[in-house]
Amino acid sequence: MNIRKVVIPVAGWGTRSLPATKNIPKEMLPVYNKPGVQYIVEEAIRSGIGDVIFITNRDKNVIEDHFDYNLQLEGVLERAGKLDKLEMIREVAEMANCISIRQKKQLGLGHAVLCAKDVVSSDDAFAVMVGDDLMFGMNPGIQQLIEVAKSERLPVIGVMEVPQERVNRYGIIAGEEVSPGIYRVNKLVEKPRVNEAPSRLAIVGRYVLTPALFPLLEAQKPGHGGEIQLTDALQGLADGRGLLAVKIRGMRFDVGDWAEYLTANIYFALQDEELRDDLVRHLKPLLPWG
Ligand code: UTP
Repeated sequence: MNIRKVVIPVAGWGTRSLPATKNIPKEMLPVYNKPGVQYIVEEAIRSGIGDVIFITNRDKNVIEDHFDYNLQLEGVLERAGKLDKLEMIREVAEMANCISIRQKKQLGLGHAVLCAKDVVSSDDAFAVMVGDDLMFGMNPGIQQLIEVAKSERLPVIGVMEVPQERVNRYGIIAGEEVSPGIYRVNKLVEKPRVNEAPSRLAIVGRYVLTPALFPLLEAQKPGHGGEIQLTDALQGLADGRGLLAVKIRGMRFDVGDWAEYLTANIYFALQDEELRDDLVRHLKPLLPWG
């Protein structure tokens, strides 16, 4: 199974993050010193995927621009002798081959993935990484899925355990654990009621999928929230040749949730040795026990 392309849907409205996202895409909000989506592209690259397909809308051009050269800025930095910064911005422009596909109507995550059909359907499998789900750990999240997809030759989705009271915010799976942390999925439910969820295993924004998904997405009726849900179409894969879920090891931050977004900022800032002490000094008096 050869996985060379990643689809990154970034076409949503980001209403939870208003007013910040009135004119700035949610995926471009900085997480410490980089836009969130840059962490996602870096995770793909660390997992051996260099071809990125952004699913965008008319207001998201700034995302493509971020991964392109800015020759005017490069000239300014060169003339100012700021060569480390020059290298930094060139690296971002050169990190991936990017293309964009417009999702002309925001009909849901499943529909966003369907927009990539013509570009990925000749591949054995492709990755999907949700544009506002940041993950960190020793092994990149998507790589953990790729390893299982390659050895089992089946599509794989990433899951994480969430507290019972939060299951209604996620797609939840039911399945049998076939080896430690790997499940054969029987059932998927998008945003179930807290007392009706089949487990606490929540689908997080990492998938390795096969083109068999596309006819299912094309036939998929709108589900939760009137949107074409990826979770609903995945049931067809589970009922067919099979679908696996891997419990991803690492940390995850949903940039669309303010508490998680702010935590991600602090987490990354704390990794920067030059900033850490200063940041802790500023934060301490703000905490009730500081
Ligand atoms: P979300 O569920 O977070 O939706 O989408 P959203 O519209 O961006 O944000 P809120 O809920 O209104 O605050 C998860 C990911 O799927 C993309 C989003 O850009 C986000 O990265 N998405 C969602 C699409 O590309 N198209 C869609 O139709 C819906």
